[in-house]
Amino acid sequence: MNILMIGSGGREHALCWAIRKSSHCDRLYCAPGNGGIADIADCIDLSADDADAVIAFCREKDIGLVVVGPEAPLVAGLVDRLTEAGIKAFGPSAKAAQLEGSKGFTKDICAKYNIPTAAYGRFRDAGAAKAFIRKMGAPIVVKADGLAAGKGVIIAESVTDAEQAVDDMLAGQFGNAGAELVIEEFLEGEEASFFALVDGKTAVPMATAQDHKRAFDGDQGPNTGGMGAYSPAPVLTPTLCEQVMADIILPTVKAMEAEGCPYKGVLYAGLMLTRDGPSLIEYNCRFGDPECQVLMARLKSDMVEAILASVDETLDSLTLNWRDEAALTVVMAAKGYPGSYEKGAVIEGLDAAEAEPGVRIFHAGTKRDSKKTLAAGGRVLNVTALGSSVTDAKAKAYAAIQKINWAEGFYRSDIGYRAVKREQD
Ligand code: AMP
Ligand code: GLY
Repeated sequence: MNILMIGSGGREHALCWAIRKSSHCDRLYCAPGNGGIADIADCIDLSADDADAVIAFCREKDIGLVVVGPEAPLVAGLVDRLTEAGIKAFGPSAKAAQLEGSKGFTKDICAKYNIPTAAYGRFRDAGAAKAFIRKMGAPIVVKADGLAAGKGVIIAESVTDAEQAVDDMLAGQFGNAGAELVIEEFLEGEEASFFALVDGKTAVPMATAQDHKRAFDGDQGPNTGGMGAYSPAPVLTPTLCEQVMADIILPTVKAMEAEGCPYKGVLYAGLMLTRDGPSLIEYNCRFGDPECQVLMARLKSDMVEAILASVDETLDSLTLNWRDEAALTVVMAAKGYPGSYEKGAVIEGLDAAEAEPGVRIFHAGTKRDSKKTLAAGGRVLNVTALGSSVTDAKAKAYAAIQKINWAEGFYRSDIGYRAVKREQD
């Protein structure tokens, strides 16, 4: 079948690479794609915001499956529109994507169905929000309810800071996303991510990962979309994974069905591993970026079959196979990211880097100019390696980075440090 991928990041390059390997894939298109995706798919100028244009393209090119990478078109209802038009599309409906699109919606589901998460309140009124903050005390977490490109969360160390965050958000700091707030208890522990594939009724665990959100080594500097990731996350032991499935993922899938908005697609749980067990920090309705890159590096099964099992509601008969190896990816970003940065520098040495054993490079913000690769975004490359352990994968990824010539780029040198320490212990 012909397949259309929506998105332009490293996540979408990794998904295109996995889809391209499938015997089910004839022509592969990507809207809009990037410099690396252009090697394996036809990149097209098509906006995911324009559902009519996407549907028209699918009819013209006889597209049998659309795979939506990022959250915004899912929350906006692209899968609903495609499904109504009779075109198979992977991902949740707009209603089900509320699990990412509204933090308050998710907290209410957790409360109603007894899913472990931080104590919380939902507010539209500054006075009530501040009274709740004074009652709870600091540290406390103030969140914009809606999508805020990963920026709408303030961890306040004092009651004064939390009250300031309330005023800023209600005054429009994150636009409409902050018209409603979720204020919640601060959870202590280690964070980890858990990915499941869901078809409305059945959930199949995929894999675990950990990412590194801060820009610089030692978890310093501003928050980013993610500067590197690895899978599996050794902190999520098999026993903990069973607990996450039983206490968090499966009750959520049942709850969404009971609420009349069955969840289909990738369910990405951001977890805090507290002293009392795993607690849900947030759900995302899509793969993580860069977590997807390490998941696709480890997946042995046919990704198109896995996607179709979710869309066609046949996950109960799917088995997913994974490599025993660990995978680790290091993000190379343009100097200045996540603030302002220059575009247009030529990147050299990519072929030599990819010739290193076990290494694959997924592009994010790149552009092709004849044979040259140019930097064209904030996060630019994902240097990904498989290894016998996270420590081994890390060594391979960093050896490959040494072959890449891009003076205008930077990367963290400590990706994987938690897992490496655990492996040493
Ligand atoms: P989110 O966008 O909800 O993932 O939040 C961004 C980050 O804020 C998370 O990855 C956590 O590091 C942190 N965070 C969010 N909620 C809490 C919480 N209740 N307690 C502690 N940290 C939190
Ligand atoms: N890397 C975090 C995310 O994709 O949300």
